[in-house]
Amino acid sequence: MTRLLTFGSAGQFGTDIAAAAKGRADFTFLPFGRDRLDLSDTDAIRLALEREDFDVVLYCASVHKTDAVELDADPAFQVNVRAADAIAAWCAEAGKLFVYYSTDYVFSGIGRKTPYDELAAKDPVNVYGASKAMGETLVLRYPTTTVLRMASLFGTAGASGKGGNFVETMIRFGRERGKLSVVNDQVMSPTATADIVKMTLDLLAAEAPAGIYHVVNSGQASWYEFACEIIKLAGVDAVVEPTTSAAFKTVALRPAYSVLDTAKLSRIIGTPDHWRDALARYMAACKG
Ligand SMILES: NC(=O)c1ccc[n+]([C@@H]2O[C@H](COP(=O)([O-])OP(=O)(O)OC[C@H]3O[C@@H](n4cnc5c(N)ncnc54)[C@H](OP(=O)(O)O)[C@@H]3O)[C@@H](O)[C@H]2O)c1
Repeated sequence: MTRLLTFGSAGQFGTDIAAAAKGRADFTFLPFGRDRLDLSDTDAIRLALEREDFDVVLYCASVHKTDAVELDADPAFQVNVRAADAIAAWCAEAGKLFVYYSTDYVFSGIGRKTPYDELAAKDPVNVYGASKAMGETLVLRYPTTTVLRMASLFGTAGASGKGGNFVETMIRFGRERGKLSVVNDQVMSPTATADIVKMTLDLLAAEAPAGIYHVVNSGQASWYEFACEIIKLAGVDAVVEPTTSAAFKTVALRPAYSVLDTAKLSRIIGTPDHWRDALARYMAACKG
């Protein structure tokens, strides 16, 4: 039985870990949310960890509202860098695994048309991506660290707890407005949180060597293509029009192309499901 101490357990992704771990006899989920430890207090980390009995840290806590982080970087650097580094260092000393969840936003997509593998050089275009890139670099100094990069998540807690993920937002706007304008020049790997949880647990069960892995659904899409599929599957009577990042300005830049290559992961636990299948499953589960 592997005991998973999960930071960010109340978040979109942490919530799905709890649900998935219930169905796995080989894992126990130990939530470790903000109520147990506020990660803005780096000095409190060691004492808090010494009191816990666990095998693996899943570090899903993050400050990742990309536009807000562009304007105020410090909370992101505290949670994504300093606190993560302190926990990774403690885990290395104690001989426990540390899993750091990261993002496709460590890449810029500039001049890119093929998926990034794990060894590609990082070149973030926004402050959030820079904080995760720095977090990765620091936590990977320890041999007990694994970095799992994921992207463009949709999960049930996002739908219910945080005002909606992209899928829910498109369905709501489609119903309310009948017409959607969505960027067609940012291409990424849409991914179901439930699938990342399964892939994480499968990697741990397979005792995959420490290092970086890309953990996303297969395939790629622009946000416009993703929105078209959502509206079609939801049966919403709405027109989806492509637009550009230049026309749809945001505070922070986003990568133009950030599709992640999953060949390394596939060699250990098999090829991830295509995002269209993951989306159909997610939408069927939401209806049910
Ligand atoms: N969402 C995406 O599309 C996406 C894409 C790529 C990678 N990621 C990465 O995936 C991971 C999980 O994302 P998510 O969508 O599940 O995010 P989320 O729903 O915002 O969850 C983040 C969690 O971090 C916790 N947290 C933030 N600051 C904290 C602090 N000072 N002390 C303690 N806990 C703190 C939050 O606690 P509270 O609930 O108390 O606020 C929340 O539970 C993150 O590492 C993120 O960078 C996300």
